[in-house]
Amino acid sequence: MRGIVFYVIESLRNKHISIFDTTLRDGEQTPGVSLTSDEKLLIAQQLDKLGVDIIEAGFPMSSDGEAASVKRIVDAGLGLQVCGLARVIKSDIDTCLGCGVDMVHTFVSTSDVQRISTIKKSRDEVYRMAIDAVEYIKDHGAKCMFSAMDATRTDVDYLINIYKGVEAAHCDIINVPDTVGVSVPSATYKLIREIAVNVNIPIDVHCHNDFGLAVANSLAAVEAGASQVQVTINGLGERAGNADLAETVMGLHSLYGAKTNIKSQYIVETSHLVERLTEVRMPPTMPIVGENAFAHESGIHTHGVLVRSDTFEPGVMTPEMVGHRRRIVLGKHAGKHAVKQSLECAGLHPTDEQLNDILKRVKDIGDKGKRVTDADLYAIAESIIGTASRGKQAIVLKEVSVMTGNIITPTATVKATVNGEERLGANVGVGPVDAALKTVAGILGDYKVKVRDFRIEAISGGSDALAEVIIGVEDDKGRAVSARATNEDIVMASVEALVAAINQLLSRGDKI
Ligand code: KIV
Ligand code: ZN
Repeated sequence: MRGIVFYVIESLRNKHISIFDTTLRDGEQTPGVSLTSDEKLLIAQQLDKLGVDIIEAGFPMSSDGEAASVKRIVDAGLGLQVCGLARVIKSDIDTCLGCGVDMVHTFVSTSDVQRISTIKKSRDEVYRMAIDAVEYIKDHGAKCMFSAMDATRTDVDYLINIYKGVEAAHCDIINVPDTVGVSVPSATYKLIREIAVNVNIPIDVHCHNDFGLAVANSLAAVEAGASQVQVTINGLGERAGNADLAETVMGLHSLYGAKTNIKSQYIVETSHLVERLTEVRMPPTMPIVGENAFAHESGIHTHGVLVRSDTFEPGVMTPEMVGHRRRIVLGKHAGKHAVKQSLECAGLHPTDEQLNDILKRVKDIGDKGKRVTDADLYAIAESIIGTASRGKQAIVLKEVSVMTGNIITPTATVKATVNGEERLGANVGVGPVDAALKTVAGILGDYKVKVRDFRIEAISGGSDALAEVIIGVEDDKGRAVSARATNEDIVMASVEALVAAINQLLSRGDKI
């Protein structure tokens, strides 16, 4: 059989590709993102756990705080190599070296447009500055990577000449940046091939995503002979960002059979950490890490996936491989199999006729443009099957109060019975909803739940509008449910939705 796999570049099978992560440098240049030194260290530690080979920890010359953060990451003694960015200027390089980095990444604009309009140097001057910088770094005993900034808009003969020059100056690796994201995969392939036949040191690529082609260009570069790719977590970076680590690495592993040191099972965990610390939210449709990356709604797809997951998933990449989970979502496209499976997981066994009625009600909600939460499904099923006796609610809310304002830290107290035993909790948060949800989670003792998804909508106008909260919750066994609640009070809607979700999880027989 000749399928698409037939065309995959066989020579990449088992080839090792090095992963250079620049989340802490180009990623931090994402408009609106600024990380503290503690946060940078946390991300560096997570990248180490993920198996990244080398990280660009920052641009030390940009501020004293940045230099201190880079030094702190170096001093943390992680397994990965630490690189710092420097212009082809001695003071930049000295500051980088002063942080104790393993590698200095030095760069200069080589395209006419940048050279003439920004640094105002001739081609010869830029050539000389590049060689001097590389020699200076090598004289100081550090590894050196040289980037010809805006390489993909640089005259190719001049570009190759400068790469040959830095090679002769003992540069360890050259980087080819598509600084403004204008290359296409076929052009990237040709350029990297041409460089590879002229230069004998390893080639790295740094692709920006202005046309959504950063990952495709990075993969094309690897096909053409690049042995290292620069990526960021969640595709963060200047403007539209850089090549995303998850997509690039899983493309290499699953589509080409190439190897990296990435432990892919930590990909989603890493994405969530960076999402939380940078506050740049990932769309649900984001490949690999997005909430919907392995979610199925249509009847045809869910039926297929329930029989055999690779009918409607890539197969060469499963949710388990990247630390994600498969989800069956119910809505207007839902099919009988998905509804039956969801109910059976909750211990409900409708007859065929009951199942048809439940399916109709689920589709009716979907037709109104609404999402069907697990709690909605169980309520419908119970009303049709008549099993409201699936057990008493484990958590019954008694009292909720919050204090908030501009002179106190938002604080919540919650009184509830948990399996009949009265419990009282208090906690603080970044806002009243956060404080209240943390307090509810806190009264559960050893049973741990995480809020994975939180959506709030006003369903009428005015400041007295009804708020509808839909919440997705996952427990420490990886089981996830969703629930909704409506209230004029946003805090109460949030707390009630969380309690409803936890009660759904606990109705499956767990004791707390
Ligand atoms: O996009 C770019 O060209 C860069 C360089 C510093 C490599 O980020
Ligand atoms: Zn960049």
